[in-house]
Amino acid sequence: MRELTRAQLVALFALASDLEAGRRRPARALQGIVVLTAFFEPSTRTRLSFESAAHRLGAAVISMPDGRVSSVHKGESLADTGVMLNSYADIVVLRHPADTSLDEIRATRLNIPLINGGNGCGEHPTQAMADWYALLKRRTELRRTDLPPEQRISLGVIGTPRRMRALRSFLLMGALHFPHVLRDVTVVSEDPRPLDAELEAALRGASLPAVCTPELQRHVSRFDVVYQNSLTLVGNEYEVFDAAFRIDGDTPLKPGALVMHPLARLDELGTDLDHTSHNLYFDQAEGAVFVRQALLLAVAGRLDRE
Ligand code: CP
Repeated sequence: MRELTRAQLVALFALASDLEAGRRRPARALQGIVVLTAFFEPSTRTRLSFESAAHRLGAAVISMPDGRVSSVHKGESLADTGVMLNSYADIVVLRHPADTSLDEIRATRLNIPLINGGNGCGEHPTQAMADWYALLKRRTELRRTDLPPEQRISLGVIGTPRRMRALRSFLLMGALHFPHVLRDVTVVSEDPRPLDAELEAALRGASLPAVCTPELQRHVSRFDVVYQNSLTLVGNEYEVFDAAFRIDGDTPLKPGALVMHPLARLDELGTDLDHTSHNLYFDQAEGAVFVRQALLLAVAGRLDRE
């Protein structure tokens, strides 16, 4: 999250928008590039949207969709795996259940670009890029850097950001790069300390008032944006947290409020919102292909190719 500046994110979003609108069609820009998706955890959206993005740019794609079919399952270290990947690919997208996986795979001599597709409870930065892209696309006035305070959004985060990487990265990207969009942050969680030290420091650094509470009903009707999740990794297993905080058609949402979710959803998000204007979660998933195309072009150093 800290490797990109706000200006770089805005430039990537502008490119993603051009790609989405068909103003740019660089169908062969990544010709000769091999993109490897190495996923040691289940995924639908992240892996497939990266692979779709790579194919749409003319890259070749090789995939390890399940860590159990790699030699890591036989005991090989991620560091040794990283050395091998240098010879087989030009860009790696890694998802792994360990927070430390990025450091481990880079530990020896991985010398090709590495994109984090989600590391344990750590970060999911390309999800946050897709999320902020979707939000700024739907609420175009939020792109202004001189947004008056009364137009800024009250953000409700439902879940436990310190254990849920998509929530964590959305909040971190907001505090670090888009604080002028936010008026205040309310974290609704079963956990009495749902934020970690890094998140607390980022919110403090952005002078954003933040409240943590277990009371959804008391706060929900003043949120302009609700970002929700319930799945989290504990070790190698998924557990459900905060699922009692259900958002559905009976929730007294503010008119115009947007509901965001990284998906996959369980019972915490009602399908009866799918066909309402509150639904931003499908936009998040759909726009991810264009955001990931823009990122791959930037990482490959081929932004100027048609
Ligand atoms: N949002 C997200 O990371 O979804 P997947 O787990 O399906 O990739």
